[in-house]
Amino acid sequence: MSPTFRSDAYIDGAWRADARRFLVLNPANQSVIAEVPDLGGAETQQAIEAAHRALPAWAAKPAKERAAIMRAWFDLMIADLDRLGRLISAEGGKPFGEAKGEAAYGAAFVEWFGEEAKRAYGRTIPSTTATRRYVTIKQPIGVCAAITPWNFPMAMITRKAAPALAAGCTFVVKPPSQTPLTALALAELAEKAGVPPGVFNVVTTHDHTADVGRVMCESPLVRKFSFTGSTEIGKKLGAACVGSTVKKVSLELGGNAPLLVFADADLDLAVKGAIASKFRNAGQTCVCANRILVEDAIYDAFSKKMTDAVAKLKVGPGDQDGVEIGPLIDQKAIEKVERMVGEALASGAVALTGGKKHSAGAQFYTPTVLANVTRDMRVNTEEIFGPVAPLIRFKSEDEAVAIANDTPFGLAAYFFTKDVNRAWRVAERIEAGMVSINDGIFSNEVIPFGGVKESGLGREGGVEGLEEYMETKFVNFGGFA
Ligand code: SIN
Repeated sequence: MSPTFRSDAYIDGAWRADARRFLVLNPANQSVIAEVPDLGGAETQQAIEAAHRALPAWAAKPAKERAAIMRAWFDLMIADLDRLGRLISAEGGKPFGEAKGEAAYGAAFVEWFGEEAKRAYGRTIPSTTATRRYVTIKQPIGVCAAITPWNFPMAMITRKAAPALAAGCTFVVKPPSQTPLTALALAELAEKAGVPPGVFNVVTTHDHTADVGRVMCESPLVRKFSFTGSTEIGKKLGAACVGSTVKKVSLELGGNAPLLVFADADLDLAVKGAIASKFRNAGQTCVCANRILVEDAIYDAFSKKMTDAVAKLKVGPGDQDGVEIGPLIDQKAIEKVERMVGEALASGAVALTGGKKHSAGAQFYTPTVLANVTRDMRVNTEEIFGPVAPLIRFKSEDEAVAIANDTPFGLAAYFFTKDVNRAWRVAERIEAGMVSINDGIFSNEVIPFGGVKESGLGREGGVEGLEEYMETKFVNFGGFA
């Protein structure tokens, strides 16, 4: 069944059927799904101005009223999970079950932040003099702009838009050119839910991405910019935002997550966790375990169990029953994985399973386990973003932590152990914004998601996620007699 969808951009509550359009392709077979407006800087400016006009009325609504509209938006998403799942799967390639899971994950941010806005408390501060009283109040930061990635076409938008709208901000998003249709479906549901014109805008683009980004970063009307994507682009966008108008910036950037398996771990649990983490979305998430570090004493047992399980993963188009691994997003992605695996094999790594493209189609890669991986190989030092699990041997906890931390990145880290002392110790020593013990999946709406080092700035989700869209204003009541 092919999902129905909107394919025009959404600015100021109107659907924009511009003539200049680009193609959205299904990564499973490269067929054309839709043609979407290819907007540029001028249209981005219009969207920002619409968001600016809509801001005073939206910000002035009591949080309870904004929450009611957001609840309606959430309810519509939940009622539409099947269609959203099919859309995410069609344009992003995820197996349908996983795509539907993303739709529920994405919707959860809208529910949670709508509720949380009611608890955006300020503080009273004990005064330093008898003649003054001090308080802080929380206020929406203003117009927010965002650039989101293709690997979570829905959840990476709602993880930004939901706290923004909940806080009383208005929002302009540029979805990725590979997956704009899910963003437009969100706009369609926002309109139905009663989100006023200008509060949520979607600017689709392909050829004018740099222009759209430049206008977002440099516009003095935009007070907050949020980006999820590569560290390389994030650094440039962050510098442009601060250098032009000193706007607040959140950056959720690349990772190189280590997953450590200690000799005292439950091996079955570790294999299950490693597969869940590594092969989620065919390895295309920023928090996927990029490299798997295994203690010497259990290396052989672990690699055998892992290889057996990975060899059974079913590869195919996302709309086929039972498929666990879909295609990679585009040709560039598959070429990068082929190159990195090729280099590792040429340098002495061994493919215990996989190690090559898959016959399901041009953009499919066979789930792979690589043994004999060394620290200097690119599969250890760089984010693979594909279904490839490199195994690296370690001999001690110190060595494991040293390998894990030997990277400029620090988004997620995972480890498996039954020793509670080690669990505390390693969790504290690992340089990452998020650490998951004995579990390969941890993402949800209530946790602070984000990284340290070159993995980014700020947190999304949780109470921290709402803070990112508010200013704390200090108010001094003076002149008390
Ligand atoms: C990401 O890959 O950036 C997001 C992953 C998640 O939300 O779990």
